[in-house]
Amino acid sequence: MEVNSSPNAVRALIQQARREGAIAGVVPTMGALHAGHASLIEAARKDCDYVVSTIFVNPTQFGPNEDIDRYPRTLDDDLQKCEAAGADLVFTPDTSQMYLPDAESDVRVTGLTQKLEGERRPGHFDGVTTVVAKLFNITVPDKAYFGQKDYQQQLVIRRMVMDLDWGIEIVTCPIIREADGLAMSSRNRYLSAEDRQRSLVLHRSLMLAEQLAAAGIRTAEIAARMSRLIEAEDGVELDYAVVVDRSTLVPAADDAETGVALLAAKLGKTRLIDNQELRFR
Ligand code: PAF
Repeated sequence: MEVNSSPNAVRALIQQARREGAIAGVVPTMGALHAGHASLIEAARKDCDYVVSTIFVNPTQFGPNEDIDRYPRTLDDDLQKCEAAGADLVFTPDTSQMYLPDAESDVRVTGLTQKLEGERRPGHFDGVTTVVAKLFNITVPDKAYFGQKDYQQQLVIRRMVMDLDWGIEIVTCPIIREADGLAMSSRNRYLSAEDRQRSLVLHRSLMLAEQLAAAGIRTAEIAARMSRLIEAEDGVELDYAVVVDRSTLVPAADDAETGVALLAAKLGKTRLIDNQELRFR
């Protein structure tokens, strides 16, 4: 496995591989890798001849109240995980290699980014789409892999790729959970032992949503029951629990066949998100 922090060198390596006929897959990450990230690299390994993982803690997607310095940095461990999962190349730029100090351009998806996470974290998705656009331009992939855990993010990236005619196939991989149901996230390491225990209510509320959907309960009632369950847990501050259309994120119609339950909640200083796709009876 090669590790390289130079955008030009990385572009040249991948272009060379593609010239030789390789299908190239990219897995963008911010490091602090866990089994969820490994599953993305493994999925890329199955589909592609040349697998690139990127590790870059992107400053432009952090809001003024979000502490980028607190974001975990575990490069040695990350590189081991990339290698074990089958990456051929890891791109590890620093901020000065990714952003010109006088940059004047960004990439923005409107509409989808105004709801839910975008509403609560103004500018967040502009940072994500801009850095992912840059990573796509540097890594020139055929396919790119994202986790379903960041449900809205993968929709926003799909929209961007479609609108800008990139021709990159976006692959969304299933959420990887701990044995007790907590969705894997780089942020889980911040949870105190008590909050770790309390966090299980999030997965319980998604399982409840699944059962209620299968029992034919209406979408607004499902969201209300999820909210009540989470709010009843001491120390868990619910931000939102909604049942929405899987592509547009508008509230799911009562006669919809499918939808997705999305939630966000704070435990101590740690904000967690999770989701579950639903099939209505
Ligand atoms: O999901 C993430 O880790 C980040 O938002 C991404 C897609 C790597 C962009 O920085």
